Amino acid sequence: MNQETVNNIKNYLIYLKETGVNELPVELNAISTPSPFPSPLRGEGGRGKKLAGQASYLSEKEAPETLEDVRRMIGDCKRCGLYKKRKNIVFGSGNEKAEIVFVGEAPGGDEDIQGKPFVGAAGQLLTKIIEAMGLKREDVYIANIIKCRPPNNRNPLEDEIEACEPFLKEQLRIINPKIICALGTFAAQTLLKTKEKITSIRGKFYTYEGIKLMPTFHPAYLLRNPNDKKLAWEDVQKIMAEYSLSI
Ligand code: URA
Repeated sequence: MNQETVNNIKNYLIYLKETGVNELPVELNAISTPSPFPSPLRGEGGRGKKLAGQASYLSEKEAPETLEDVRRMIGDCKRCGLYKKRKNIVFGSGNEKAEIVFVGEAPGGDEDIQGKPFVGAAGQLLTKIIEAMGLKREDVYIANIIKCRPPNNRNPLEDEIEACEPFLKEQLRIINPKIICALGTFAAQTLLKTKEKITSIRGKFYTYEGIKLMPTFHPAYLLRNPNDKKLAWEDVQKIMAEYSLSI
């Protein structure tokens, strides 16, 4: 069993525990946990149908089908320590049917106040990049690995990522975009389960849960290193080329 599978099982069990599930129905030859959430979409039950013997974790007793469902599951989250200082949970924003999703690191001060991702200086640059791609912010979806602001914008800790990532995973499963653009080291390393530097992995396509993923520089990095905007633009053009092939 590889590390990713172990992590998925761990996240799934933590999630079940936190949502009040104390027993697991186990059928021999039927153990499969590709997602941290029980997903009828992947099984035979059909969309939104409750799996036999499956404990409920939404008030509707169903797996999340919409982003609203996922937001409801998050609730007034206290799964890690970041809730103590946050002003708002920054869930994500944009088009639920987006073909392209941008994933950043974590909310900063402006995002924490407004409850929306990428609304500060880095967000303004991201908006320009999206518009340069011939799109609008409303066409795409924007989210972060972590939904609450780490104090003083420090890097998210491992337990914070473990607590939060399952929800992003569900958002991405529901949106099911053609392409994910991972913004910066942290998003790329987290989604691709790698320790490789952004400089060595950017500009190439990888696969995340069957979806094409392109890592590129984080807009905040580009604000500090404007010379690398050219490289980011090359990456974004590859995304557009791949996107136009897929429509
Ligand atoms: N940086 C991020 O990674 N995400 C935001 O939402 C804002 C800044």
